[in-house]
Amino acid sequence: MAEVLFRTLHLFGALGMAAGMVVAALAAGSLTTDSEHHGSAHLAFRKIYAWTAVAIALSVGAGLVLWLAVGKPAAFFSNNPVFHAKVALVLTLLATLLYPAWFLCRPQSSQAIPATVLRLQKSALPLMLVIPVLAYLMARGIGY
Ligand code: HEM
Repeated sequence: MAEVLFRTLHLFGALGMAAGMVVAALAAGSLTTDSEHHGSAHLAFRKIYAWTAVAIALSVGAGLVLWLAVGKPAAFFSNNPVFHAKVALVLTLLATLLYPAWFLCRPQSSQAIPATVLRLQKSALPLMLVIPVLAYLMARGIGY
């Protein structure tokens, strides 16, 4: 029962994370092509990233519970290099989100969005596809 609950929370968190990342990337991309200046855009980005942070906390929190406390024994995952690869990619993904989130959420009067922000946002998206594939494999003991 607890396993089903945490698996569901983990999955909803991951879906929310993906949705937040896509929305933030689309919103930032549309601002760079819009000639009209949006002085209050940071308020919208704060909302998007706040919800994305909630989803990340949910996914990572439930993931840690699934690893260490509930369901299969922790060794089932700890001894699997596919699991290590997944966690490493999750950390890489979170690192790529930091600079775009910081830049877009601060009040900016007239500064254009740097190309690095857009590139980091886009580079995080393929990771969001690879991570569930690794998760699928490691949950079935592949690599163990
Ligand atoms: C450090 C953070 C994370 C940890 C410790 C973690 C841990 C886990 C564990 C232990 C399972 C196996 C559950 C089981 O079979 O009983 C799992 C499943 C899964 N995780 Fe994560 N996870 C993390 C982050 C993520 C993220 C960010 C995503 C999405 C991008 C994700 C996607 C999935 C999916 C899709 C499954 C289900 C696999 C399946 O049953 O087919 N995880 N995770």
